[in-house]
Amino acid sequence: MQSCLSHSLRVSLVGIAVIVLTACEAASPTPPLIQPGPATDPAGTDVAIELPEGDAERGGLIAQARGCTACHITGAPNIGPAWESAKNPDGLNSPGIAAARIAADDYNGTATTAEEYIFESIVSPNIDIVPPTPGANWVIAGPSTMLTEYGSLLSRKDLADIIAYLKTVQ
Ligand code: HEC
Repeated sequence: MQSCLSHSLRVSLVGIAVIVLTACEAASPTPPLIQPGPATDPAGTDVAIELPEGDAERGGLIAQARGCTACHITGAPNIGPAWESAKNPDGLNSPGIAAARIAADDYNGTATTAEEYIFESIVSPNIDIVPPTPGANWVIAGPSTMLTEYGSLLSRKDLADIIAYLKTVQ
């Protein structure tokens, strides 16, 4: 009797979980990695904006789909700071670069956290140009080679996901 009761309890819990999952999926379908034209919920350029919770896995897929990885990960020679610390001469990954830049005397932006710095670097790449570290194999002459339109092309969710992803890249 005891086991029969707990069995039916388990069955009902599974049933509830299925209903909840189905309801969530219906409410928030996974957005496409690339939307044609400007994002419906653009990130904009204000570093103080509130972002939804990030999904690192989707962030990695966006970084690939949007071509970010061509300059930051697979580029040979790298044409942007390497996101993998082992490939960067100073041994920093992206959050490490962020922390170093915020603390630098010549930092020009308004970010106070690594998340804000990464956000700022993507949507306003010319506010603060990451100086090539000694031995780095990317060269900056003039403005950043990054697109200046990411703030309108990427949604707030995209930015949240990319930031979550960059925090996982070692
Ligand atoms: C054409 C090459 C290129 C592409 C494509 C590119 N970047 Fe960059 N990125 C750079 C360069 C060069 C810098 C360093 C100069 C600067 O500060 O803008 C940089 C700096 C950054 C920084 C700050 C430093 C760091 O590495 O943490 C972030 C964050 C960043 N890029 C994210 C992105 C994301 C996300 C994308 C795609 C949406 C992207 N980049 C696409 C070249 C590129």
